Amino acid sequence: MEVEVIKGTKVLKVRNKEDLEALEEAGELIRRGELVAFPTETVYGLGGNALDPEAAGKIYAAKGRPSDNPLIVHVAQPEEIKPLVREVPEVAERLMERFWPGPLTLVFPARPEVPRRTTGGLDTVAIRLPAHPVALAFIAAARRPIAGPSANLSGRPSPTTAEHVIADLAGRIAMIIDAGHTGVGVESTVLDVTVSPPQILRPGGITLEELRQVVPDVTVDPTTVQDTPPAVGRVRAPGMKYKHYAPQGEVIVVEGAPERIAARIAALYDGYAAQGKKVVIMATCETASAYGERRTAVVGARADLGSIAANLFDFLRRFDEEGVEVILAEGVEMVGLGLTVMNRLRKAAGYHIIKV
Ligand code: TXA
Ligand code: MG
Repeated sequence: MEVEVIKGTKVLKVRNKEDLEALEEAGELIRRGELVAFPTETVYGLGGNALDPEAAGKIYAAKGRPSDNPLIVHVAQPEEIKPLVREVPEVAERLMERFWPGPLTLVFPARPEVPRRTTGGLDTVAIRLPAHPVALAFIAAARRPIAGPSANLSGRPSPTTAEHVIADLAGRIAMIIDAGHTGVGVESTVLDVTVSPPQILRPGGITLEELRQVVPDVTVDPTTVQDTPPAVGRVRAPGMKYKHYAPQGEVIVVEGAPERIAARIAALYDGYAAQGKKVVIMATCETASAYGERRTAVVGARADLGSIAANLFDFLRRFDEEGVEVILAEGVEMVGLGLTVMNRLRKAAGYHIIKV
């Protein structure tokens, strides 16, 4: 297995089954209260011992994250939630059965043993069981539940490669486990099962439609789907109120029928280009040819919204590296993963939305 040290942070490249045994060292770091970034099927996480308030404190410091924003706790086996939660509602059992391992985080009533530094002061705890062999081997090696927010500096797009984590956190944490690209590319769905019916607090890798197959009356926190900035105090997942996912360039989302979107984006592009601005169009396969010679990056296909989710954060980071000043992004239909994509895009745009 390849090992590299970057600014004092050890980077382990895990590429095959044999490499998983080397995760023992990562587990030891967690038991000593250190931080280790690890891959999941959604995005990379910044792991620390969820039962150690000091480790939680280090996570907030390394990310520059407000400490009222609770952390998701990762487990490797469903039974491992028992010492963390006061109660497992029947509906949660059905959801775990169907969607774990996978990109679904459930919010439970927390036992007092879960440090309030981990839960951001709340009496609830968000838990998930990730569908990534390296994540599971790492959690098992730690023999501790792992608190893990996305492994980006607060406010930056979530990391979908180890290079993204290195760019944000090398020199700030003990280790980064590199397993290449994550698959889903957007974070898990956060579902509150302490209320009836359960409510989506953050759309993510498991869609509303999928959840409704198991729990038909699941609702969505309206602040996650609105097209204006949520009012402070209205947001139920504390993390959703912060400026998030934002690249350094200005993002503008154009929403409506695809042909009309393309026409408006082309006109906007020409206006910014005439001002000498460095502009890029984040397009879909279906519309890319409408932009002619204009600088266009194809993020994925409308017919496969998962392809857009998988590339979104990586593209936003790349535009930053290239010094892009204006990103003109096509809106997509808010169904399936489109709901998640639009939630992230609108936030990245600071709700700068043009409807056509
Ligand atoms: O896919 C993911 O969920 C990734 C990977 C690493 O697992 N993690 C992640 O964590 O996205 P983070 O910390 O970046 O986002 C967690 C979200 C935040 O919006 C937070 O406010 C919400 O979940 N959350 C956590 N605990 C909560 C709780 N007890 N009640 C309500 N919302 C909670
Ligand atoms: Mg995050």
